[in-house]
Amino acid sequence: MGRFVVFEGGEGSGKSTQARRLADRWGALLTFEPGDTEVGRRLREILLSPETGDLDIRAEALLMAADRAHHVATVVRPALLRGRDVVCDRYVGSSVAYQGHGRGLDPHHVAALSAFATDDLRPDVVVLLEVPPEVAAERLAAAGTPDRLEAAGADFHRRVAEGYRVQAAADPARWLIVDGHGSEDEVAARVDAALAAAFPNPPT
Ligand code: TYD
Repeated sequence: MGRFVVFEGGEGSGKSTQARRLADRWGALLTFEPGDTEVGRRLREILLSPETGDLDIRAEALLMAADRAHHVATVVRPALLRGRDVVCDRYVGSSVAYQGHGRGLDPHHVAALSAFATDDLRPDVVVLLEVPPEVAAERLAAAGTPDRLEAAGADFHRRVAEGYRVQAAADPARWLIVDGHGSEDEVAARVDAALAAAFPNPPT
């Protein structure tokens, strides 16, 4: 099995950049949720487009889980089984943080839904990139028109951040909290150091 590393964090945490950089360094498959399959692209459109309008939160959770089920079955698990390392930008932790803590569904129900969706495939490591809310807001403002979830408001995003901290605290062997402050290179060096401790004997 290849190594399976997930990047998590709030909007503007820089995790997509860091996921890409790690995948480059490792020669790993870079993938993301929601939307990295043909079916997923259609689900992503419903999930993130402001044109969707009102979407029941259980329906939102189920569509995220549907995207994940298809993504794991057709992309992630086959790659890992071939021995390929996989770096995924968002995974189960996003659903627990956003649909659970953010939207107010029971985080345990959301986790159980993802366990079903993935047939219990868990990452070896989750890198949680943390940035102070002001930095995230600045980066987000620079990024243009917000999508449905980005537009959900400051309280929502505070609950999401808390949801991540709760998950990291509950599973400290798997979750590595990395300071997302500073330049891309500085953060990448921190990610590397954290992963070197998590994978002391990398494959050659
Ligand atoms: P994306 O454009 O990929 O954003 P980011 O650069 O922030 O990763 O949008 C993904 C959005 O979907 C983001 O707001 C988080 C949200 N999301 C959930 O609410 N639940 C989930 O399970 C996943 C995977 C993402």
